[in-house]
Amino acid sequence: MSKEQPSPKIAAARLKQLSRLRPTLAIILGSGFHHVLSALDEDARISYAKLPGFPPVGVSGHAGELFIGRLGGVPVMVLSGRAHFYEGHPMALVTFAVRVLAAYGIKDVLLTNAAGGAARSFRPGDFMVLTDHINLMGTNPLRGAPVAGLPRFVDMTRAYDVKLIELLRKAGRECGIKVRSGVYMAVCGPSYETPAEVRAFTKLGADAIGMSTVPEAVVARQCGMNVAGVSCITNLAAGRSGQALSHAEVLETAERVKVLAAQMLKNFAKLYARGK
Ligand code: HPA
Repeated sequence: MSKEQPSPKIAAARLKQLSRLRPTLAIILGSGFHHVLSALDEDARISYAKLPGFPPVGVSGHAGELFIGRLGGVPVMVLSGRAHFYEGHPMALVTFAVRVLAAYGIKDVLLTNAAGGAARSFRPGDFMVLTDHINLMGTNPLRGAPVAGLPRFVDMTRAYDVKLIELLRKAGRECGIKVRSGVYMAVCGPSYETPAEVRAFTKLGADAIGMSTVPEAVVARQCGMNVAGVSCITNLAAGRSGQALSHAEVLETAERVKVLAAQMLKNFAKLYARGK
């Protein structure tokens, strides 16, 4: 971690003062998933700006707020908004919130994101549960000085927890979603890919392509948390349709499926509590 980052324990202690609830599940919201906040029975919320070391993010809606509450009756922590590597932040800042979650006592993290569909069968509006990832961001969030007490060389053989994957699939099925599974490839961005890149990435094994999640998953695994991930396929990856890509399309699809996405997360929280 970079020297400028404060200890994650400081923000974690602040969060413990905020609410008496002690969730073990945290959900990080990406595009397409924010609507779940309307289903959250909120106990406390805090702006990232008040949490030492948290990144400055977003200006719209609830971006840059952390919530503690109950989802489907189950205590959860929900992080609305994340810092992206393409914004120019160092990886230590992009992944800082994940270290705070670990310091707080979170055991299981669900990472959500918007992604382009590279697999031929994927359609905009689909949901893909991550079974694995490919890091093509050009760097690794664990690069740099070792973190005391944590492994230097982190095993990523089973980065995404098998039990949580099954719960996600079930959560989707319960609201009528035909949940896809696949490999998420993380690129730096912020430009979208070229069609040639998408063809190459597909050959490498990518089913969906996005600009987040992987750094958080790597750090969460280093901290010993179980990780799950789900992508909202907001668009066909470049060259997969005749059309140009636009951020407007990403937002449009996210808006179209937001109710389903929220329902899936709520079902997931309930199944999670039952499985404990
Ligand atoms: N590529 C990369 N990131 C994305 C995409 C995409 O097509 N859609 C949403 N995030």
